[in-house]
Amino acid sequence: MKRTTSSKEIVLGVTGSIAAYKACEIASRLVESGYAVTPALTASAQELVGSATFEALTGRRVITGMFDPLASPDIEHIAVAQRAALFLIAPATANIIAKAARGIADDWLSTTLLATRAPILFAPAMNTNMYNHPATQENIEILKSRGCAFVGPGSGRLACGTVGLGRMVHVPRILEAVEIALHETKDLAGLFVVLTAGGTREPIDPVRFIANRSSGKMGRALAMEALKRGARVAIIAGHMDVPPPEGAEVIVAETAKDMAEVALSLAQDADVFVGAAAVGDFRVQNPSSDKHKRSEKGLEINLIENPDVISQVGALRRDGQIVVGFAAETADLIKNAKTKIKQKQLDLIVANQVGVEDSGFGTETLRACFIDSKGTVEELDLSTKEEVATLLFDRVSDLLD
Ligand code: PMT
Repeated sequence: MKRTTSSKEIVLGVTGSIAAYKACEIASRLVESGYAVTPALTASAQELVGSATFEALTGRRVITGMFDPLASPDIEHIAVAQRAALFLIAPATANIIAKAARGIADDWLSTTLLATRAPILFAPAMNTNMYNHPATQENIEILKSRGCAFVGPGSGRLACGTVGLGRMVHVPRILEAVEIALHETKDLAGLFVVLTAGGTREPIDPVRFIANRSSGKMGRALAMEALKRGARVAIIAGHMDVPPPEGAEVIVAETAKDMAEVALSLAQDADVFVGAAAVGDFRVQNPSSDKHKRSEKGLEINLIENPDVISQVGALRRDGQIVVGFAAETADLIKNAKTKIKQKQLDLIVANQVGVEDSGFGTETLRACFIDSKGTVEELDLSTKEEVATLLFDRVSDLLD
């Protein structure tokens, strides 16, 4: 995670779940990313983890109770409430969620949650029945309706010995949610961004397929950027080597035909549609229902053309909807991309060089340029996929104005 602004203060509220030990890693990673972290441990959390660990990890005094302010004005609850950029409650028990929803202020953390106007992010951790209980669900809905964010919970083995929903999500997902919550520009708030990502797989038989080398990194970077800017994001995902970012809706579409079907349905409501997936142009005409045998000497496979997903979306676009494509080229980058932007009726195309070491499928960086519908070319320096995503949504934002 890159630091967004130097020394933004995050209050890390740790409550009494066995997952409290994971808050040590959260504190450490946030400090590493350049944030000032003020840990606040409830009385129950102090039964599970020690203040000394958090003090060592954050270099700051740990807030353990309402009477700490008498000793130190810098942790007086109103002062902290006013200067914090974010309250991250991780782990968040059913109890703190209930208190925050109902305005109960009976300790330092719950009192300060009432006093702050900073964004609040909860990472719930509790027993499945407690999480599913209508009271907890209602409390979560109340908090969401007030603009609080939630990350998780996930499913897995719980401290009570059962397996189910209620586990605090892994630390990287929490850090990603922090990044989204703290991002300052929310120029895509209220908009729906749909994007295709990863590579399609066209079956040959039940065990074999025709695929490509897309890792989904570009699609992931685009989804993360759109989330940070406040959009609702849906990823139509082919095969991806990387996990989708926290907060995106994911619809798996293995083949080009599946992708086209989902894309046409979601595009109806999309404000922005981005085709970053490497979609197979051909599929096997008659995939075998049985595994092909080695003994079938001279096996021939007949390929037929796949639907062109983004062309179909481009052809049906509504007024004001923005449709962006990618062009993966090994030669004649700009010429071929200019042909594609016209053929596919796009507003913008990201022409990227593939087949070189530092650009294309699976790489961390891209050699790319943006071409708009008037044919204007903007060449980018060698950029990370995250940087390309930021610049691309800057252009999209201009087009939406
Ligand atoms: O996933 P990564 O490893 O990070 O790699 C990123 C990437 C190289 C896959 C990505 O940046 C990229 O270039 N994606 C488009 C790949 C591609 O299929 O390019 P194309 O030039 O063949 O297609 C042009 C456009 O039409 C693309 O927006 C593509 O999504 C779309 N298309 C293509 C064929 C098809 N049948 N349907 C489509 O929608």
